[in-house]
Amino acid sequence: MMGFVHLIFLSTFLSVSMMSETFDAMEGEALVIKCPRWSSSVKFTWYHMDTNKIIPAEDEGSRIFSLKQFLWFLPTSREDSGNYTCVIHFSNNRTKSFNMSVQVHPYKQGVCFPSQIRYPNDTGRGKIVCPTIDNYKNATIIQWYKDCKPLQGQRYFQGEKYIFVNNPRKEDDGYYTCRFIYIHKGNVFNVSATRIFISKAKHSPLPPQILFPKDKDIIEVDLGAALSLKCQARLGIKKQPLAVVTWDVDNISVKYLDFSRFHEKTHFFEGHEQEYYRETTLHITEVKKEDLQANFTCVALNEMHNTKVTVTLQLKAQYGKIYDAYVIYPRSYTNEANFVEYFVYQLMPDILENKCGYKLCIYGRDIYPGEDTASAIEKRMQKSRRLIILLTHQLINCKEPAYDQHIALYNALIQNDAKVILLEMETIGTYEKLQESLRFIIKQQGTVKWKEQHTVHPQSSNSKFWKQVRYHMPMTLKSSYSANAG
Ligand SMILES: *[C@@H]1O[C@H](CO)[C@@H](O)[C@H](O)[C@H]1NC(C)=O
Ligand SMILES: *[C@@H]1O[C@H](CO)[C@@H](O)[C@H](O)[C@H]1NC(C)=O
Ligand SMILES: *[C@@H]1O[C@H](CO)[C@@H](O)[C@H](O)[C@H]1NC(C)=O
Ligand SMILES: *[C@@H]1O[C@H](CO)[C@@H](O)[C@H](O)[C@H]1NC(C)=O
Ligand SMILES: *[C@@H]1O[C@H](CO)[C@@H](O)[C@H](O)[C@H]1NC(C)=O
Ligand SMILES: *[C@@H]1O[C@H](CO)[C@@H](O)[C@H](O)[C@H]1NC(C)=O
Ligand SMILES: *[C@@H]1O[C@H](CO)[C@@H](O)[C@H](O)[C@H]1NC(C)=O
Ligand SMILES: *[C@@H]1O[C@H](CO)[C@@H](O)[C@H](O)[C@H]1NC(C)=O
Repeated sequence: MMGFVHLIFLSTFLSVSMMSETFDAMEGEALVIKCPRWSSSVKFTWYHMDTNKIIPAEDEGSRIFSLKQFLWFLPTSREDSGNYTCVIHFSNNRTKSFNMSVQVHPYKQGVCFPSQIRYPNDTGRGKIVCPTIDNYKNATIIQWYKDCKPLQGQRYFQGEKYIFVNNPRKEDDGYYTCRFIYIHKGNVFNVSATRIFISKAKHSPLPPQILFPKDKDIIEVDLGAALSLKCQARLGIKKQPLAVVTWDVDNISVKYLDFSRFHEKTHFFEGHEQEYYRETTLHITEVKKEDLQANFTCVALNEMHNTKVTVTLQLKAQYGKIYDAYVIYPRSYTNEANFVEYFVYQLMPDILENKCGYKLCIYGRDIYPGEDTASAIEKRMQKSRRLIILLTHQLINCKEPAYDQHIALYNALIQNDAKVILLEMETIGTYEKLQESLRFIIKQQGTVKWKEQHTVHPQSSNSKFWKQVRYHMPMTLKSSYSANAG
Protein backbone atom coordinates (compact mmCIF):
# COMPACT_ATOMS: atom_id res chain seq x y z
CA MET A 1 0.00 0.00 0.00
CA MET A 2 0.96 3.59 -0.59
CA GLY A 3 0.95 4.19 3.12
CA PHE A 4 3.71 1.72 3.74
CA VAL A 5 5.89 3.21 1.06
CA HIS A 6 5.71 6.60 2.62
CA LEU A 7 6.24 5.40 6.15
CA ILE A 8 9.26 3.39 5.19
CA PHE A 9 10.59 6.33 3.19
CA LEU A 10 10.09 8.55 6.16
CA SER A 11 11.68 6.36 8.79
CA THR A 12 14.69 5.80 6.54
CA PHE A 13 15.42 9.34 5.46
CA LEU A 14 14.18 11.68 8.10
CA SER A 15 14.89 12.16 11.74
CA VAL A 16 12.16 10.31 13.56
CA SER A 17 10.47 11.67 16.60
CA MET A 18 9.08 8.91 18.76
CA MET A 19 6.85 11.34 20.59
CA SER A 20 3.23 10.93 19.77
CA GLU A 21 0.38 13.17 20.80
CA THR A 22 -2.66 11.69 22.49
CA PHE A 23 -6.18 12.97 22.04
CA ASP A 24 -8.85 11.94 24.51
CA ALA A 25 -12.41 12.32 23.35
CA MET A 26 -15.89 11.43 24.51
CA GLU A 27 -17.80 8.85 22.58
CA GLY A 28 -20.45 10.37 20.33
CA GLU A 29 -18.93 13.84 20.23
CA ALA A 30 -17.31 15.60 17.32
CA LEU A 31 -13.51 15.48 17.29
CA VAL A 32 -11.02 17.28 15.12
CA ILE A 33 -7.36 16.51 15.40
CA LYS A 34 -4.75 18.60 13.78
CA CYS A 35 -1.42 17.63 12.26
CA PRO A 36 1.16 19.38 14.47
CA ARG A 37 2.94 21.11 11.57
CA TRP A 38 1.33 22.58 8.56
CA SER A 39 1.48 25.21 5.94
CA SER A 40 -0.99 26.12 3.25
CA SER A 41 1.36 25.15 0.40
CA VAL A 42 1.69 21.47 1.28
CA LYS A 43 -0.47 18.40 0.86
CA PHE A 44 -1.46 16.06 3.66
CA THR A 45 -2.32 12.38 3.75
CA TRP A 46 -3.86 10.74 6.79
CA TYR A 47 -3.57 7.07 7.65
CA HIS A 48 -5.13 4.80 10.17
CA MET A 49 -1.97 3.03 11.36
CA ASP A 50 -3.63 -0.18 12.49
CA THR A 51 -5.17 -0.80 9.06
CA ASN A 52 -2.71 1.27 6.99
CA LYS A 53 -5.67 2.68 5.15
CA ILE A 54 -5.66 6.19 3.77
CA ILE A 55 -8.44 8.22 5.28
CA PRO A 56 -10.47 9.73 2.46
CA ALA A 57 -11.34 13.34 2.01
CA GLU A 58 -14.86 14.25 2.96
CA ASP A 59 -17.54 12.69 0.87
CA GLU A 60 -21.17 12.26 1.60
CA GLY A 61 -21.82 10.25 4.68
CA SER A 62 -18.27 9.38 5.74
CA ARG A 63 -17.98 9.60 9.47
CA ILE A 64 -14.18 9.95 9.50
CA PHE A 65 -12.57 12.12 6.89
CA SER A 66 -9.48 14.21 6.30
CA LEU A 67 -9.46 17.83 5.31
CA LYS A 68 -6.00 19.33 4.80
CA GLN A 69 -4.23 19.33 8.16
CA PHE A 70 -7.35 18.16 9.99
CA LEU A 71 -8.74 14.72 10.69
CA TRP A 72 -12.45 14.74 11.48
CA PHE A 73 -14.58 12.33 13.48
CA LEU A 74 -18.24 13.21 13.09
CA PRO A 75 -18.90 11.82 15.62
CA THR A 76 -16.42 9.57 17.40
CA SER A 77 -17.09 5.93 18.02
CA ARG A 78 -15.38 3.66 20.52
CA GLU A 79 -13.64 1.66 17.78
CA ASP A 80 -11.86 4.82 16.56
CA SER A 81 -9.37 4.47 19.42
CA GLY A 82 -5.97 3.84 17.89
CA ASN A 83 -3.02 5.42 16.18
CA TYR A 84 -3.18 7.77 13.22
CA THR A 85 -0.45 9.29 11.09
CA CYS A 86 -0.43 12.48 9.13
CA VAL A 87 2.07 12.74 6.32
CA ILE A 88 3.10 16.10 4.98
CA HIS A 89 4.16 16.15 1.33
CA PHE A 90 6.53 18.96 0.52
CA SER A 91 6.93 20.19 -3.05
CA ASN A 92 10.45 18.71 -3.33
CA ASN A 93 8.95 15.21 -2.81
CA ARG A 94 10.20 15.03 0.74
CA THR A 95 7.72 14.03 3.41
CA LYS A 96 7.43 14.29 7.14
CA SER A 97 5.01 12.37 9.29
CA PHE A 98 3.60 12.51 12.79
CA ASN A 99 1.96 9.81 14.87
CA MET A 100 -1.09 10.65 16.88
CA SER A 101 -3.02 8.52 19.27
CA VAL A 102 -6.77 8.79 19.79
CA GLN A 103 -8.58 7.49 22.84
CA VAL A 104 -12.37 7.48 22.73
CA HIS A 105 -13.93 7.21 26.16
CA PRO A 106 -17.39 5.82 26.67
CA TYR A 107 -19.86 7.97 28.54
CA LYS A 108 -20.00 7.02 32.21
CA GLN A 109 -22.86 8.02 34.44
CA GLY A 110 -21.73 10.88 36.67
CA VAL A 111 -18.42 11.42 34.92
CA CYS A 112 -18.47 14.54 32.82
CA PHE A 113 -15.06 14.28 31.21
CA PRO A 114 -12.35 11.66 30.78
CA SER A 115 -9.81 11.90 33.56
CA GLN A 116 -6.98 12.11 31.05
CA ILE A 117 -6.83 15.85 30.71
CA ARG A 118 -5.36 16.61 27.40
CA TYR A 119 -5.34 20.40 27.30
CA PRO A 120 -2.64 22.51 28.87
CA ASN A 121 -3.19 23.99 32.32
CA ASP A 122 -4.20 27.60 32.48
CA THR A 123 -2.44 29.53 35.19
CA GLY A 124 -3.79 32.96 34.86
CA ARG A 125 -5.65 35.94 36.05
CA GLY A 126 -9.04 34.54 35.20
CA LYS A 127 -9.35 34.07 31.46
CA ILE A 128 -9.91 30.41 30.63
CA VAL A 129 -9.97 29.66 26.95
CA CYS A 130 -12.17 26.82 25.70
CA PRO A 131 -9.67 24.29 24.31
CA THR A 132 -9.88 23.23 20.63
CA ILE A 133 -12.86 25.46 19.86
CA ASP A 134 -10.79 27.19 17.19
CA ASN A 135 -10.77 23.97 15.18
CA TYR A 136 -14.52 24.22 14.72
CA LYS A 137 -15.93 26.94 12.55
CA ASN A 138 -18.94 28.66 14.03
CA ALA A 139 -19.10 26.66 17.23
CA THR A 140 -21.28 27.99 20.04
CA ILE A 141 -20.51 27.48 23.72
CA ILE A 142 -23.59 26.17 25.48
CA GLN A 143 -22.35 25.85 29.02
CA TRP A 144 -19.25 26.03 31.18
CA TYR A 145 -18.69 23.71 34.12
CA LYS A 146 -16.31 23.77 37.03
CA ASP A 147 -15.61 20.37 38.49
CA CYS A 148 -18.65 19.21 36.52
CA LYS A 149 -21.07 21.72 38.03
CA PRO A 150 -22.61 24.33 35.72
CA LEU A 151 -21.07 27.77 36.23
CA GLN A 152 -23.33 30.70 36.73
CA GLY A 153 -23.41 33.99 38.53
CA GLN A 154 -22.05 37.45 38.24
CA ARG A 155 -18.48 36.40 38.87
CA TYR A 156 -18.33 34.77 35.47
CA PHE A 157 -18.24 36.58 32.19
CA GLN A 158 -18.62 34.47 29.11
CA GLY A 159 -16.85 35.51 25.95
CA GLU A 160 -17.25 33.85 22.58
CA LYS A 161 -14.42 31.40 23.19
CA TYR A 162 -13.55 31.81 26.84
CA ILE A 163 -14.88 32.37 30.30
CA PHE A 164 -13.57 34.98 32.68
CA VAL A 165 -13.52 34.36 36.40
CA ASN A 166 -13.73 37.66 38.20
CA ASN A 167 -11.07 38.14 40.84
CA PRO A 168 -10.01 34.48 40.92
CA ARG A 169 -9.06 32.95 44.25
CA LYS A 170 -7.73 29.61 45.36
CA GLU A 171 -11.28 28.16 45.47
CA ASP A 172 -11.57 28.85 41.77
CA ASP A 173 -8.84 26.36 40.94
CA GLY A 174 -10.16 23.22 39.35
CA TYR A 175 -11.32 21.50 36.19
CA TYR A 176 -13.12 23.77 33.75
CA THR A 177 -15.13 22.16 31.00
CA CYS A 178 -16.68 23.98 28.10
CA ARG A 179 -19.46 22.28 26.23
CA PHE A 180 -20.18 23.62 22.78
CA ILE A 181 -22.15 22.62 19.75
CA TYR A 182 -20.87 22.44 16.24
CA ILE A 183 -23.16 22.33 13.25
CA HIS A 184 -21.87 20.50 10.20
CA LYS A 185 -24.08 20.35 7.13
CA GLY A 186 -27.11 20.71 9.30
CA ASN A 187 -26.08 18.00 11.77
CA VAL A 188 -25.56 19.10 15.35
CA PHE A 189 -22.64 17.71 17.32
CA ASN A 190 -21.67 18.13 20.95
CA VAL A 191 -18.09 18.75 21.94
CA SER A 192 -16.69 19.13 25.43
CA ALA A 193 -13.17 20.05 26.43
CA THR A 194 -11.60 20.33 29.84
CA ARG A 195 -8.57 21.99 31.30
CA ILE A 196 -7.17 22.75 34.73
CA PHE A 197 -7.17 26.32 35.91
CA ILE A 198 -4.81 27.51 38.62
CA SER A 199 -5.34 31.08 39.75
CA LYS A 200 -2.45 33.46 39.89
CA ALA A 201 -4.25 36.74 40.02
CA LYS A 202 -2.85 39.86 41.58
CA HIS A 203 -5.55 41.89 39.89
CA SER A 204 -8.45 40.90 37.73
CA PRO A 205 -10.44 42.68 35.09
CA LEU A 206 -14.23 43.00 35.12
CA PRO A 207 -16.36 43.36 32.01
CA PRO A 208 -15.70 47.03 31.27
CA GLN A 209 -18.65 49.15 32.26
CA ILE A 210 -19.08 52.79 31.30
CA LEU A 211 -20.83 54.54 34.21
CA PHE A 212 -21.37 57.76 32.34
CA PRO A 213 -22.30 59.06 29.92
CA LYS A 214 -25.12 56.82 28.74
CA ASP A 215 -25.29 55.67 25.18
CA LYS A 216 -27.23 57.99 22.83
CA ASP A 217 -27.15 60.87 25.28
CA ILE A 218 -27.67 64.31 23.90
CA ILE A 219 -25.53 66.96 25.56
CA GLU A 220 -26.66 70.57 25.40
CA VAL A 221 -23.99 73.02 24.36
CA ASP A 222 -23.44 76.63 23.36
CA LEU A 223 -21.59 77.41 20.14
CA GLY A 224 -18.23 79.00 20.81
CA ALA A 225 -18.20 77.86 24.43
CA ALA A 226 -15.81 75.37 25.94
CA LEU A 227 -17.07 71.88 26.68
CA SER A 228 -15.83 68.99 28.79
CA LEU A 229 -17.16 65.51 28.21
CA LYS A 230 -16.38 63.10 30.99
CA CYS A 231 -16.39 59.38 30.56
CA GLN A 232 -15.96 57.12 33.54
CA ALA A 233 -15.56 53.36 33.37
CA ARG A 234 -15.04 50.57 35.84
CA LEU A 235 -12.42 48.18 34.50
CA GLY A 236 -11.56 45.66 37.17
CA ILE A 237 -10.21 44.93 40.61
CA LYS A 238 -6.92 46.64 41.42
CA LYS A 239 -4.71 48.43 38.99
CA GLN A 240 -5.08 46.90 35.54
CA PRO A 241 -2.21 46.22 33.17
CA LEU A 242 -4.45 47.10 30.24
CA ALA A 243 -7.01 49.81 30.91
CA VAL A 244 -8.01 52.33 28.31
CA VAL A 245 -10.80 54.88 28.38
CA THR A 246 -10.63 57.19 25.43
CA TRP A 247 -12.74 59.39 23.19
CA ASP A 248 -13.22 59.09 19.43
CA VAL A 249 -14.87 61.76 17.35
CA ASP A 250 -16.53 60.16 14.31
CA ASN A 251 -14.42 57.06 14.86
CA ILE A 252 -11.18 59.02 14.86
CA SER A 253 -9.14 58.96 18.02
CA VAL A 254 -8.82 62.36 19.68
CA LYS A 255 -5.05 61.90 19.45
CA TYR A 256 -5.29 62.45 15.72
CA LEU A 257 -7.59 65.44 15.88
CA ASP A 258 -6.90 69.17 15.82
CA PHE A 259 -4.69 69.72 18.89
CA SER A 260 -5.75 73.29 19.32
CA ARG A 261 -9.38 72.37 19.90
CA PHE A 262 -9.45 68.84 21.40
CA HIS A 263 -7.57 67.62 24.44
CA GLU A 264 -7.95 64.47 26.43
CA LYS A 265 -7.05 64.01 30.06
CA THR A 266 -7.28 60.81 31.99
CA HIS A 267 -6.89 59.71 35.57
CA PHE A 268 -7.68 56.61 37.56
CA PHE A 269 -8.86 55.85 41.06
CA GLU A 270 -9.88 52.90 43.16
CA GLY A 271 -13.36 52.65 44.61
CA HIS A 272 -14.67 50.29 47.25
CA GLU A 273 -13.34 46.74 47.24
CA GLN A 274 -10.44 48.03 45.16
CA GLU A 275 -12.57 48.49 42.06
CA TYR A 276 -10.46 50.22 39.47
CA TYR A 277 -11.92 53.17 37.59
CA ARG A 278 -10.58 55.33 34.85
CA GLU A 279 -12.05 58.65 33.86
CA THR A 280 -11.20 60.49 30.69
CA THR A 281 -12.32 64.03 29.98
CA LEU A 282 -12.46 65.34 26.47
CA HIS A 283 -11.96 69.09 26.55
CA ILE A 284 -13.15 71.06 23.55
CA THR A 285 -11.88 74.60 23.77
CA GLU A 286 -14.56 75.94 21.47
CA VAL A 287 -17.63 74.10 20.25
CA LYS A 288 -18.15 74.56 16.52
CA LYS A 289 -21.15 73.96 14.30
CA GLU A 290 -19.64 70.81 12.82
CA ASP A 291 -19.50 69.25 16.31
CA LEU A 292 -23.29 69.19 16.37
CA GLN A 293 -23.20 66.61 13.55
CA ALA A 294 -20.46 64.48 15.07
CA ASN A 295 -20.58 61.25 17.11
CA PHE A 296 -18.54 61.42 20.30
CA THR A 297 -17.73 57.88 21.30
CA CYS A 298 -16.14 56.85 24.54
CA VAL A 299 -14.37 53.50 24.31
CA ALA A 300 -13.44 51.53 27.41
CA LEU A 301 -11.29 48.47 27.12
CA ASN A 302 -9.30 46.05 29.24
CA GLU A 303 -7.72 42.68 28.59
CA MET A 304 -11.12 41.06 28.84
CA HIS A 305 -13.42 43.00 26.59
CA ASN A 306 -14.32 46.41 25.22
CA THR A 307 -17.42 48.54 25.24
CA LYS A 308 -18.43 51.96 24.01
CA VAL A 309 -21.09 54.64 24.23
CA THR A 310 -21.83 57.42 21.78
CA VAL A 311 -23.19 60.85 22.60
CA THR A 312 -24.08 63.77 20.40
CA LEU A 313 -24.28 67.50 20.97
CA GLN A 314 -27.25 69.76 20.56
CA LEU A 315 -27.69 73.51 20.95
CA LYS A 316 -28.94 74.50 24.35
CA ALA A 317 -32.63 75.29 24.44
CA GLN A 318 -33.13 78.96 25.14
CA TYR A 319 -35.24 79.05 28.30
CA GLY A 320 -34.45 80.82 31.47
CA LYS A 321 -34.10 79.01 34.62
CA ILE A 322 -37.11 79.29 36.90
CA TYR A 323 -35.96 77.55 40.09
CA ASP A 324 -32.81 78.10 42.07
CA ALA A 325 -32.78 74.54 43.28
CA TYR A 326 -34.57 71.26 42.87
CA VAL A 327 -34.76 69.36 46.16
CA ILE A 328 -34.26 65.60 46.26
CA TYR A 329 -35.15 63.86 49.50
CA PRO A 330 -36.08 60.36 50.61
CA ARG A 331 -39.82 60.05 50.41
CA SER A 332 -41.47 58.41 53.32
CA TYR A 333 -44.37 56.12 52.61
CA THR A 334 -45.63 56.09 56.15
CA ASN A 335 -47.97 58.59 57.65
CA GLU A 336 -45.63 59.39 60.49
CA ALA A 337 -44.34 62.91 60.29
CA ASN A 338 -40.57 62.85 60.27
CA PHE A 339 -37.81 65.34 60.54
CA VAL A 340 -36.89 65.15 56.87
CA GLU A 341 -40.38 66.18 55.84
CA TYR A 342 -40.45 68.97 58.38
CA PHE A 343 -37.10 70.09 57.02
CA VAL A 344 -38.12 69.93 53.37
CA TYR A 345 -41.61 71.38 53.63
CA GLN A 346 -41.11 73.94 56.40
CA LEU A 347 -37.62 74.70 57.56
CA MET A 348 -35.88 74.86 54.22
CA PRO A 349 -38.57 76.94 52.44
CA ASP A 350 -38.73 79.25 55.43
CA ILE A 351 -35.02 79.98 55.30
CA LEU A 352 -34.09 79.66 51.64
CA GLU A 353 -37.32 81.07 50.17
CA ASN A 354 -38.74 83.44 52.76
CA LYS A 355 -35.52 84.73 54.25
CA CYS A 356 -33.09 84.47 51.36
CA GLY A 357 -35.38 84.86 48.36
CA TYR A 358 -34.61 81.66 46.50
CA LYS A 359 -37.20 79.67 44.64
CA LEU A 360 -37.20 75.94 45.28
CA CYS A 361 -38.88 73.08 43.47
CA ILE A 362 -40.08 70.44 45.90
CA TYR A 363 -41.81 67.23 44.90
CA GLY A 364 -45.12 66.97 46.68
CA ARG A 365 -45.40 70.74 46.85
CA ASP A 366 -44.54 71.91 43.32
CA ILE A 367 -45.00 68.58 41.56
CA TYR A 368 -47.89 66.36 42.50
CA PRO A 369 -47.88 62.62 42.26
CA GLY A 370 -50.18 61.80 39.38
CA GLU A 371 -48.93 64.41 36.98
CA ASP A 372 -46.82 62.63 34.37
CA THR A 373 -44.22 62.48 37.09
CA ALA A 374 -41.19 61.47 35.11
CA SER A 375 -41.44 64.18 32.52
CA ALA A 376 -42.54 66.76 35.11
CA ILE A 377 -39.46 66.01 37.18
CA GLU A 378 -37.18 66.20 34.21
CA LYS A 379 -38.61 69.53 33.06
CA ARG A 380 -38.41 71.12 36.50
CA MET A 381 -34.89 69.87 36.97
CA GLN A 382 -33.80 71.38 33.68
CA LYS A 383 -35.21 74.66 34.92
CA SER A 384 -33.32 74.48 38.20
CA ARG A 385 -29.90 76.00 38.76
CA ARG A 386 -28.92 73.63 41.53
CA LEU A 387 -29.80 70.16 42.75
CA ILE A 388 -30.02 69.74 46.50
CA ILE A 389 -29.80 66.14 47.66
CA LEU A 390 -30.58 65.20 51.25
CA LEU A 391 -28.40 62.30 52.31
CA THR A 392 -30.02 60.09 54.92
CA HIS A 393 -29.77 56.44 55.73
CA GLN A 394 -33.13 55.89 54.13
CA LEU A 395 -31.94 57.36 50.86
CA ILE A 396 -28.83 55.25 50.92
CA ASN A 397 -30.50 52.02 51.87
CA CYS A 398 -33.37 52.14 49.44
CA LYS A 399 -32.70 49.61 46.75
CA GLU A 400 -34.24 51.46 43.84
CA PRO A 401 -33.19 55.12 43.79
CA ALA A 402 -36.10 57.48 43.21
CA TYR A 403 -36.43 58.67 39.67
CA ASP A 404 -35.43 62.24 40.45
CA GLN A 405 -32.33 61.10 42.27
CA HIS A 406 -31.42 59.03 39.31
CA ILE A 407 -31.86 61.81 36.78
CA ALA A 408 -30.20 64.38 39.01
CA LEU A 409 -27.03 62.42 39.50
CA TYR A 410 -26.93 61.66 35.92
CA ASN A 411 -27.30 65.30 34.82
CA ALA A 412 -24.81 66.42 37.40
CA LEU A 413 -22.25 63.96 36.23
CA ILE A 414 -22.44 64.47 32.52
CA GLN A 415 -22.55 68.22 32.77
CA ASN A 416 -19.33 69.71 33.72
CA ASP A 417 -20.38 72.32 36.24
CA ALA A 418 -20.93 70.89 39.68
CA LYS A 419 -24.50 71.76 40.36
CA VAL A 420 -25.19 69.41 43.21
CA ILE A 421 -25.38 70.38 46.87
CA LEU A 422 -25.26 67.42 49.22
CA LEU A 423 -26.81 67.90 52.62
CA GLU A 424 -25.73 65.20 55.04
CA MET A 425 -28.77 65.16 57.31
CA GLU A 426 -27.68 62.16 59.35
CA THR A 427 -24.15 61.10 60.05
CA ILE A 428 -23.47 58.66 57.27
CA GLY A 429 -20.09 57.56 58.55
CA THR A 430 -18.45 55.58 55.82
CA TYR A 431 -19.71 56.41 52.35
CA GLU A 432 -19.01 52.94 51.09
CA LYS A 433 -22.64 51.95 50.75
CA LEU A 434 -23.44 54.93 48.57
CA GLN A 435 -23.94 54.72 44.85
CA GLU A 436 -20.74 55.18 42.94
CA SER A 437 -21.92 58.46 41.44
CA LEU A 438 -22.74 59.93 44.86
CA ARG A 439 -19.39 58.92 46.22
CA PHE A 440 -17.81 60.54 43.24
CA ILE A 441 -19.51 63.87 43.95
CA ILE A 442 -18.64 63.66 47.64
CA LYS A 443 -15.05 63.02 46.73
CA GLN A 444 -15.03 66.10 44.53
CA GLN A 445 -16.85 68.57 46.74
CA GLY A 446 -17.77 67.08 50.10
CA THR A 447 -21.07 67.49 51.91
CA VAL A 448 -22.72 70.13 54.08
CA LYS A 449 -23.36 68.45 57.42
CA TRP A 450 -26.44 68.96 59.52
CA LYS A 451 -25.45 68.70 63.17
CA GLU A 452 -27.69 68.13 66.12
CA GLN A 453 -26.85 71.54 67.54
CA HIS A 454 -28.46 73.22 64.53
CA THR A 455 -31.72 71.87 65.81
CA VAL A 456 -31.48 74.27 68.74
CA HIS A 457 -31.88 77.33 66.50
CA PRO A 458 -32.84 75.72 63.23
CA GLN A 459 -34.59 78.85 62.01
CA SER A 460 -31.51 80.98 62.20
CA SER A 461 -30.44 81.70 58.65
CA ASN A 462 -27.09 82.71 60.02
CA SER A 463 -26.22 79.32 61.40
CA LYS A 464 -23.10 77.77 59.97
CA PHE A 465 -25.17 75.16 58.15
CA TRP A 466 -27.31 77.61 56.21
CA LYS A 467 -24.32 79.80 55.47
CA GLN A 468 -22.63 76.84 53.84
CA VAL A 469 -25.76 76.00 51.89
CA ARG A 470 -26.09 79.57 50.67
CA TYR A 471 -22.47 79.58 49.67
CA HIS A 472 -23.27 76.81 47.20
CA MET A 473 -26.50 78.39 45.98
CA PRO A 474 -26.53 80.71 42.97
CA MET A 475 -26.30 84.44 43.60
CA THR A 476 -29.54 86.35 43.88
CA LEU A 477 -29.90 90.03 44.74
CA LYS A 478 -31.63 89.30 47.98
CA SER A 479 -29.31 86.49 49.02
CA SER A 480 -26.18 88.49 48.43
CA TYR A 481 -27.75 91.34 50.35
CA SER A 482 -28.79 89.24 53.33
CA ALA A 483 -25.51 87.34 53.26
CA ASN A 484 -23.66 90.63 53.58
CA ALA A 485 -26.08 91.88 56.17
CA GLY A 486 -25.70 88.67 58.20
C1 LIG B 1 4.93 5.99 14.21
O1 LIG B 1 4.64 4.74 14.73
C2 LIG B 1 5.20 3.66 13.97
C3 LIG B 1 4.68 2.36 14.55
O2 LIG B 1 4.78 2.35 15.93
C4 LIG B 1 6.73 3.76 14.04
O3 LIG B 1 7.28 2.79 13.25
C5 LIG B 1 7.14 5.13 13.48
O4 LIG B 1 8.52 5.30 13.64
C6 LIG B 1 6.41 6.25 14.21
N1 LIG B 1 6.68 7.48 13.54
C7 LIG B 1 6.95 8.60 14.19
C8 LIG B 1 7.19 9.79 13.37
O5 LIG B 1 7.02 8.65 15.43
C1 LIG C 1 -0.48 3.11 19.40
O1 LIG C 1 0.93 3.33 19.47
C2 LIG C 1 1.51 3.11 20.73
C3 LIG C 1 2.97 3.46 20.63
O2 LIG C 1 3.11 4.75 20.15
C4 LIG C 1 1.30 1.69 21.16
O3 LIG C 1 1.81 1.48 22.45
C5 LIG C 1 -0.16 1.35 21.14
O4 LIG C 1 -0.38 0.01 21.40
C6 LIG C 1 -0.80 1.70 19.80
N1 LIG C 1 -2.22 1.55 19.88
C7 LIG C 1 -2.91 0.77 19.09
C8 LIG C 1 -4.38 0.68 19.35
O5 LIG C 1 -2.38 0.15 18.22
C1 LIG D 1 8.72 14.25 -7.52
O1 LIG D 1 8.31 12.94 -7.92
C2 LIG D 1 7.69 12.89 -9.19
C3 LIG D 1 7.16 11.47 -9.46
O2 LIG D 1 7.78 10.54 -8.64
C4 LIG D 1 8.72 13.32 -10.27
O3 LIG D 1 8.11 13.32 -11.54
C5 LIG D 1 9.22 14.74 -9.90
O4 LIG D 1 10.23 15.10 -10.82
C6 LIG D 1 9.75 14.82 -8.50
N1 LIG D 1 10.04 16.17 -8.15
C7 LIG D 1 11.12 16.57 -7.52
C8 LIG D 1 11.24 18.05 -7.21
O5 LIG D 1 11.97 15.77 -7.16
C1 LIG E 1 -1.41 20.95 35.69
O1 LIG E 1 -1.96 21.06 36.99
C2 LIG E 1 -2.03 19.83 37.70
C3 LIG E 1 -2.75 20.06 39.00
O2 LIG E 1 -2.16 21.09 39.72
C4 LIG E 1 -0.59 19.32 37.91
O3 LIG E 1 -0.64 18.06 38.59
C5 LIG E 1 0.08 19.16 36.59
O4 LIG E 1 1.44 18.80 36.77
C6 LIG E 1 0.04 20.46 35.79
N1 LIG E 1 0.55 20.23 34.46
C7 LIG E 1 1.42 21.02 33.90
C8 LIG E 1 1.85 20.66 32.52
O5 LIG E 1 1.84 22.03 34.46
C1 LIG F 1 -23.46 29.65 12.48
O1 LIG F 1 -24.37 29.00 13.35
C2 LIG F 1 -25.63 29.60 13.45
C3 LIG F 1 -26.45 28.80 14.44
O2 LIG F 1 -25.68 28.45 15.54
C4 LIG F 1 -26.29 29.63 12.10
O3 LIG F 1 -27.53 30.32 12.20
C5 LIG F 1 -25.40 30.33 11.09
O4 LIG F 1 -25.95 30.25 9.82
C6 LIG F 1 -24.03 29.69 11.07
N1 LIG F 1 -23.14 30.46 10.21
C7 LIG F 1 -22.33 29.87 9.33
C8 LIG F 1 -21.45 30.79 8.53
O5 LIG F 1 -22.27 28.66 9.22
C1 LIG G 1 -25.75 16.92 23.20
O1 LIG G 1 -25.78 17.00 24.62
C2 LIG G 1 -27.05 17.27 25.15
C3 LIG G 1 -26.91 17.44 26.64
O2 LIG G 1 -26.04 16.50 27.20
C4 LIG G 1 -27.99 16.12 24.78
O3 LIG G 1 -29.27 16.40 25.27
C5 LIG G 1 -28.04 16.00 23.27
O4 LIG G 1 -28.81 14.88 22.93
C6 LIG G 1 -26.65 15.82 22.70
N1 LIG G 1 -26.73 15.89 21.26
C7 LIG G 1 -26.14 15.00 20.48
C8 LIG G 1 -26.31 15.21 19.00
O5 LIG G 1 -25.49 14.08 20.93
C1 LIG H 1 -23.15 58.56 13.97
O1 LIG H 1 -23.72 57.34 14.44
C2 LIG H 1 -24.93 57.00 13.81
C3 LIG H 1 -25.47 55.77 14.50
O2 LIG H 1 -24.46 54.80 14.66
C4 LIG H 1 -24.68 56.76 12.33
O3 LIG H 1 -25.86 56.45 11.69
C5 LIG H 1 -24.07 58.02 11.73
O4 LIG H 1 -23.69 57.78 10.41
C6 LIG H 1 -22.84 58.44 12.50
N1 LIG H 1 -22.37 59.72 12.01
C7 LIG H 1 -21.12 59.90 11.68
C8 LIG H 1 -20.79 61.28 11.19
O5 LIG H 1 -20.28 59.02 11.79
C1 LIG I 1 -18.16 54.68 12.79
O1 LIG I 1 -18.36 53.35 13.19
C2 LIG I 1 -19.72 52.97 13.26
C3 LIG I 1 -19.79 51.56 13.77
O2 LIG I 1 -18.60 51.11 14.30
C4 LIG I 1 -20.35 53.09 11.88
O3 LIG I 1 -21.72 52.79 11.98
C5 LIG I 1 -20.16 54.49 11.36
O4 LIG I 1 -20.62 54.57 10.03
C6 LIG I 1 -18.70 54.90 11.40
N1 LIG I 1 -18.59 56.30 11.00
C7 LIG I 1 -17.62 56.74 10.23
C8 LIG I 1 -17.65 58.21 9.93
O5 LIG I 1 -16.76 56.00 9.78
